[in-house]
Amino acid sequence: MKIYVPGDAAAKALGADDVARAVVTEAAARGVEVTVVRNGSRGMIWLEPLVEIVTDQGRMGFGPMLVADVPALFGDAEAHPKALGLVEELPWMKRQTRLTFARVGVIDPLSLAEYELHHGLKGLRRAIAMEPAAIVQEVTDSGLRGRGGAGFPTGIKWKTVHDAQAPQKYIVCNADEGDSATFADRMLMEGDPFTLVEGMAIAGLAVGATKGYIYTRSEYPDAVSQMQKAIEIARAAGVLGASVLGSGRAFDMEVRVGAGAYVCGEETSLLNSLEGKRGVVRAKPPLPALEGFMGRPTVVNNVISLASVPVIMDRGAAFYKHFGMGRSHGTMALQIAGNVRFGGLFETAFGLSLGEIVDDIGGGTASGRPVKAVQVGGPLGAWFPRELFDTPFTYEDFAAKGGLIGHAGLTIADDTVDMLKMARFAMEFCAIESCGKCTPCRIGAVRGVETLDRIGGGDASGIPLLTDLCETMKSGSLCALGGFTPYPVMSALTHFPDDFTATHKEAAE
Ligand code: NAI
Ligand code: SF4
Repeated sequence: MKIYVPGDAAAKALGADDVARAVVTEAAARGVEVTVVRNGSRGMIWLEPLVEIVTDQGRMGFGPMLVADVPALFGDAEAHPKALGLVEELPWMKRQTRLTFARVGVIDPLSLAEYELHHGLKGLRRAIAMEPAAIVQEVTDSGLRGRGGAGFPTGIKWKTVHDAQAPQKYIVCNADEGDSATFADRMLMEGDPFTLVEGMAIAGLAVGATKGYIYTRSEYPDAVSQMQKAIEIARAAGVLGASVLGSGRAFDMEVRVGAGAYVCGEETSLLNSLEGKRGVVRAKPPLPALEGFMGRPTVVNNVISLASVPVIMDRGAAFYKHFGMGRSHGTMALQIAGNVRFGGLFETAFGLSLGEIVDDIGGGTASGRPVKAVQVGGPLGAWFPRELFDTPFTYEDFAAKGGLIGHAGLTIADDTVDMLKMARFAMEFCAIESCGKCTPCRIGAVRGVETLDRIGGGDASGIPLLTDLCETMKSGSLCALGGFTPYPVMSALTHFPDDFTATHKEAAE
């Protein structure tokens, strides 16, 4: 009997380790031989721990499982009160286009043999047979854009590093996933770490870099250990090292763990931290692509950008580009969170409307109350009211409506949420996380909190001051932290002005 119990951190937080132990104990008591595989999460967090039993028909799901639910798995499983049917047939799974996350939840994350059985290493083998410039061209042609948030074309970034002349170049994977409502990087690293290893190796071959670093957070201990184990296995199998898969070309990598500053997710601050310095932002130019880690040309890409490269190299640029809408090609791993009924990770081609994502896929709020607003793109993203729910999920459409898709985290809020408090939270977050290098952010965010408190206290004269301050922060900040904090603040003020007036507050009280 083969049983999958997720080893993903979210599933573990919901009791997956206890369930896994109970499965082993129950099987032993009944004299049943059982193999327990700790897979990644399928992304349906409301069903975690989601246990799967391999049957002749496919993998049957059961969840959310408690320890007390385990004994019944060994009886008539189909009659189990938590039986969900075949996992692949669940509507949440069937509606997705899983390219980057195709193996997450499916395979044993640390089995290189299973990885290869599911298309693993095909992209790398194809890349080895190509000229570096041709690999860069393939990624350019795929239309892949930076999935960390900025959406810069990955192929153009790689070409800058490829064309740079230097004795040493680097690949740095930005896995410092700090945005609220985001967990795609973590889930990928925990559930399918070889995809990231393969993506980074392909990047190395493409630009001529022989060394890679994954910079992640100390708050992700499972992802750290999973990546470290995967790197060791890949090295032992000759996927990494002096001769990648016998190609004669070298690439190796290691994991570095940051101390938890949000701003270290900003690429230049990350590079400083990686070099052992304080994580403050560097002015650009020079671009990291030309002067990055240790002053050398460096590709800095997000986990999902790099993890999307193997499927592009395996299936071809045209295959990947065909998904999506407008200039937003391929798929995006939506992370649906906050006050939502069905929260989790949903990979789909760009172009679904925000309303479809929130109402159909997310199923509305967990509280059952009306959705008031959705913050898209993390703590620096704009709040979208229901009137904008027809916005297609693409880089361009969100920018046109005064927002950004960022790393595709969505935080859903019901009608009890006070948008002035949300605006204050954004300013306070910026004040706490500011690296202190530039004035609009370091001082502006503190003044922003004070001004919002004045407005909250009934002083409407603070509103033009807040607007002015946001303009200054937007245009005068050195990086996205100070520059983008005005998005949540101004979108809250623009779309929910009533929450910023004294009469409203009094009525509510
Ligand atoms: P950016 O627009 O300055 O740069 C985008 C990327 O393109 C950078 O890597 C930059 O070095 C590179 N680039 C620009 N021109 C280039 C050229 N000619 N050749 C080669 N490379 C070039 O944006 P930035 O400041 O790096 O990122 C801002 C975004 O980060 C925001 O949209 C925000 O959503 C996102 N973000 C994501 C977080 C997360 O947890 N994933 C946290 C905070 C912000
Ligand atoms: Fe540092 Fe804030 Fe300026 Fe960014 S905007 S460089 S975080 S002070």
